[in-house]
Amino acid sequence: MLKEWLGMAEGILQDLHQDHEEVGGLIEQCLKTEASAERNQIFKEIMSMLTAHSEAEQQVLYKKMQKSDDEKTRSFVFEGINEHQIVEQQLQQMARTRNKASEQWTAQLTVLKELVNHHVKEEESTGFSCARNEFNREELEKMSGQFQRQKEKLMAAA
Ligand SMILES: [Fe+2]
Ligand SMILES: [Fe+2]
Repeated sequence: MLKEWLGMAEGILQDLHQDHEEVGGLIEQCLKTEASAERNQIFKEIMSMLTAHSEAEQQVLYKKMQKSDDEKTRSFVFEGINEHQIVEQQLQQMARTRNKASEQWTAQLTVLKELVNHHVKEEESTGFSCARNEFNREELEKMSGQFQRQKEKLMAAA
């Protein structure tokens, strides 16, 4: 009950957290799988989810945070965008490797996991606390709808 209420109060932050959990789960699942074809299928899902999530997050949340008077908030956004770019480069490189059962690809997947874990940790601590300072409950709720719509649009276009 309390959790549900907190979840509602968090608006977009709750949506972002859910996506982070989902992507983390998919990466683990991919690491546990050994067959290339199966890995390829899971990887496609990871790539489309991660790309749509990061873009929608930037377009809806980061864009507003970037205009903040608070230096900490702005530097979080700049670091976050840079990390999104690094994750995207990693995904592009991984997509090009045909044999996803190789040790090399497994290493790339491990690096992807570390990049995502690091980014999510910073986002959910520094990023979320800056966002809570910047926006009230109503604004966070409004951004939740915008984020979901934007993400759906991006996933449909991919
Ligand atoms: Fe995120
Ligand atoms: Fe992010």
